[in-house]
This record gives sequence, C-alpha cells and structure tokens, in this order.
Amino acid sequence: MKEVGNILTDSFGREHNYLRISLTERCNLRCTYCMPANGIQLSPKEHIMTYEEIYTIAKEFVTHGVTKIRLTGGEPLIRKDVLLILEKLAQLPVELAITTNGVIVDKFIKQFKEYGIQKINVSLDSLNIDKNKGITRRDYFAKVYHNIQLLVKEGFEVKVNCVLMKGFNDNEIIDFIELTKHQPLQIRFIEFMPFDGNEWNMEKLVSLEEILQEVYSHYDTNHFIRLHDLPNDTAKNYKIKEYQGSFAVISSVTNPFCDSCNRIRLTANGQLKNCLFSTSESDILTPLRNGEAIAPIIEKVLLSKKKVRNGMNTIEKFKNLKIHSKNRSMIAIGG
Ligand code: 5AD
Ligand code: SF4
Repeated sequence: MKEVGNILTDSFGREHNYLRISLTERCNLRCTYCMPANGIQLSPKEHIMTYEEIYTIAKEFVTHGVTKIRLTGGEPLIRKDVLLILEKLAQLPVELAITTNGVIVDKFIKQFKEYGIQKINVSLDSLNIDKNKGITRRDYFAKVYHNIQLLVKEGFEVKVNCVLMKGFNDNEIIDFIELTKHQPLQIRFIEFMPFDGNEWNMEKLVSLEEILQEVYSHYDTNHFIRLHDLPNDTAKNYKIKEYQGSFAVISSVTNPFCDSCNRIRLTANGQLKNCLFSTSESDILTPLRNGEAIAPIIEKVLLSKKKVRNGMNTIEKFKNLKIHSKNRSMIAIGG
C-alpha cells in the first residue's frame, strides 16, 4: 500500500531511501562490459547537471526521505568540481558513499575524511596485469591495487567490485577471496549484466551457483559461513571463518533482489531512472531549470516502477537483447 504523502514509496510499498547520482558520463578507463569499444555519444556540456543543480535535486530527495546517497559515474572523481559537490552534499543529513575505479582515489583521502565519506566501492576485475589491461583498455592495475590497500589502511570501508566473465576471470574467484585473509575488505562478485553495446550473452555469465560451487570445492564447509544480509542488501554475503574480510555475490541475473529494492538513480544529465534496467527515463533537469516543482515528477517516476527488473521477470525475457539496446550503456547510467 502506498503511504499517503510519501512520494518515494512505489506502488508495491517499497520505500526508496537510497539515491545514486552519476556525476559524469566520462571515465579514465574503458571497461569492455561498461562501455562500447567506440565510446558513447556524450551529452552536451550544458545538459550536464551543475553542482548547484545536483545539490538542489539531492536536497529534494532528502526532504522526502532519502538517507543515503552514492556518487557514481563514469568515474565521479574526474569531474573537475567534484570537491564542491562533496562539500555541498556533506551538508545534507545523509550517508555519503562513492563508487570509483580507484585510479586517482588516493588524491581524495583527506577530503573523504573531512566530508564523512566512509564507504568506498572500487572496481577491480582481475588480479592479473595483462587481463586488467585487456578489460579496462588501460594500464592502471598497479595503481588501483595499491590504492585499495591504501584505503583499507586509512580505515575506509572498502568493497571491491569484480564482474565475473566465463573463461576470462572465473579462475580468479579463490585468488580474490584470499585477499580477504589479512585485510578487512569485502569482495563483491557481480554477475555480468547486459547493457547497450556490451556484447553480453548468457554463456559469458558466471552465476551465483557456479561461484558457490567453486568456493565449496576449495574451502572446507566448516570454514565457510553464510552471513546475514542487511535489509535492502543487493548482495548475498559470505566469509571464510578465520579471514578478516568477507565476500558477496550480486546475482542480478539469476536471483534478482528487486523485492527489497530501495534505489533510485539520477543520471549526469538529470534523468531519473527507477530501475537499472529501465528503458525509459524522466527528465528532471529541464523542469528544474524552468522553475517548476520536481516533486510531482519524482512521484510519477516511482509510481511507474515495475515489480522486477523493469518487467523482465524471467530469464527468457532478460535474454532478449533488443530490450537492453533500448537502455543506456552502464557508463551513462552509473552503476
Ligand atoms: N555487469 C555487471 N556489473 C557491471 N558494472 C559495470 N558494468 C557492469 C555489467 N555489465 C559494475 C562495475 C562497477 C559498478 C559501478 O558497476 O563493477 O564497479
Ligand atoms: Fe569506467 Fe567504471 Fe565503466 Fe570501467 S566500469 S569504464 S571504470 S565507469
């Protein structure tokens, strides 16, 4: 039932208190699963939200109940005014988090502490230099690896996002878990998802079940613990008993977690998306610039949210690539 007066509750009673804001469509890496080989058509600069507009929209969401904001991209840290944005958003009563590729994150440690950013997700898909070069089409493995250790040492809550692909990095599952032995890190294995231009097919996907099988075949069952998941957690959480860190699987394809979804997305050019897989978006920036009220638009976007993955409630529907080609590439959505 929709709670009267709360525009962030959808028609299935899900309360949305988590806003993900993409700060830019640009990135200093070119990950194959995220971006088509020939890049994407970037929005004209004047269509990208300014830092004041980001703040105004975020504030409206906070007024209606958002308690957590995650900044994404592209790579959020390459935006020139990122510090201004952090400074503004830190004034709101929310938990601020960031997802980054880790390449230049070392330059922001002081400011993250100053602005209360504690949770940092870093993408790293392989522990092998050459494979890393292959997937990111750039050569920053050493830098990113070093920065992950640095963030842990500096006391941040670090999660490493690893998109698994068959025949590419699925032989590194145990190596990634071993990183949690001496460090309080969380490794998150993410099922490869289809987006425009990323050459997805079901055969490339490494499923939750396959990941667990690999884990079972390597670790003694007495040492392998299933942790309690937090409410609204997209991940299923596990750990090896004696290890400092933990690991998790995000199974958006084989086991969607839409029932507890509390997220809404704002793209860098000011479009609201009610689901990662939605093929339509709602412009909130133009009305804002025209001085119109944005709350009714937010409400409409929430009310049109589907129950599961934008209506793709079966694997068969999910495999239909025509649907995904109507969506953006991940780089332009923002994780
Ligand atoms: N499938 C799964 N995860 C993806 N990400 C980007 N593209 C995909 C995809 N096609 C993840 C990256 C990044 C986060 C923002 O989204 O791991 O860390
Ligand atoms: Fe950049 Fe992240 Fe996309 Fe890789 S996954 S191209 S790091 S935005």
